[in-house]
Amino acid sequence: MKSVLVVGGAGYLGGAVTDLLLKSKYNVRVYDNLLYEESFRKPVDFIYGDVRDKKKLLNQLRWADVVVWLAAIVGDGACQLNPDLTMAINRDSVKWLSENYDGRIIFMSTCSVYGAQNRELDENSPTNPLSIYASSKLQAENFLINKNAIIFRLGTLFGVGDLFSRVRMDLVVNILTVKAATLGKINVFGGNQFRPLLHVKDVARMIKMNIETEYTGIYNLKYRNVRIIDLAYQVQNHYPNCIIEKTDMPFQDTRNYRVSSQKAKETFGFSTNYSIDTGIEEIKYLINTGRIENVNNTRYSNYKHLEEQINRGKNK
Ligand SMILES: NC(=O)c1ccc[n+]([C@@H]2O[C@H](COP(=O)([O-])OP(=O)(O)OC[C@H]3O[C@@H](n4cnc5c(N)ncnc54)[C@H](O)[C@@H]3O)[C@@H](O)[C@H]2O)c1
Repeated sequence: MKSVLVVGGAGYLGGAVTDLLLKSKYNVRVYDNLLYEESFRKPVDFIYGDVRDKKKLLNQLRWADVVVWLAAIVGDGACQLNPDLTMAINRDSVKWLSENYDGRIIFMSTCSVYGAQNRELDENSPTNPLSIYASSKLQAENFLINKNAIIFRLGTLFGVGDLFSRVRMDLVVNILTVKAATLGKINVFGGNQFRPLLHVKDVARMIKMNIETEYTGIYNLKYRNVRIIDLAYQVQNHYPNCIIEKTDMPFQDTRNYRVSSQKAKETFGFSTNYSIDTGIEEIKYLINTGRIENVNNTRYSNYKHLEEQINRGKNK
């Protein structure tokens, strides 16, 4: 039975991955420094630790046959707050991993490594990272290219992992749904920019599926490439009284890109089970049932939460 270490497993995607692995035949352990949570409550071995704590992490790597590497400062704004810290966590710790671990690695990168480009992009398209976040992920990828590592370049995630997993409200589908639910108004800047989108549970399934495969290299994963204005209309379908306010955007959105997932489909049968409408309904349910009391709590936004910590002098 393989032992799987989920590094960054207390996060949004980590919640969905951990749930799925808990129902599997694998031994599962989560390693995370709980940047956004006070405690970890899933019924799984949990090691509180920072990926920069090499001694602690090395002990766990010795235990693991497979590492699912999710730990990162995630998002352009969050990464910009402290670029040195971002590089230390997102890039340097992956370099160290590549030098100190020979098991299977499943690594999450991002489609934002492509930057703004006006055509459908595949894994051979030129990269054009326009943020510290994208740049840190692209550099991290390079350390893994000759390892037993599969790298997923993910679109922007949406939906809910499960009712007890961390959820992020700073991602475009989720954020537009929150705005429609709480303000009755969605502001769209520009709107013609495309974004590849993907349900958080579909990624979790692809991660699990590849624990025992031998596929390596880079794969784009997306459900659909969607224009932001079309997404706003789609959210409006779930909140018919909601108003859409469109503002012409004075600058080019750095995250305008469309990707193809053909390579993942052909190689390991990548497929999706969850639509954007499902994701919108899941977020709506969280709000309607009061599971999220205050959608403005900073814990749901990586940027706001880390900014608050910096202001309190608690920058880790
Ligand atoms: N959510 C998306 O839309 C999206 C899109 C593309 C790629 N990704 C990638 O997927 C992965 C997971 O993203 P997410 O949305 O779950 O983000 P998240 O912020 O919810 O989770 C990141 C987790 O990593 C942990 N972490 C951060 N720094 C750490 C450190 N120094 N040591 C140990 N743990 C640390 C955090 O506590 C958190 O639990 C990331 O690598 C991200 O780059 C996510």
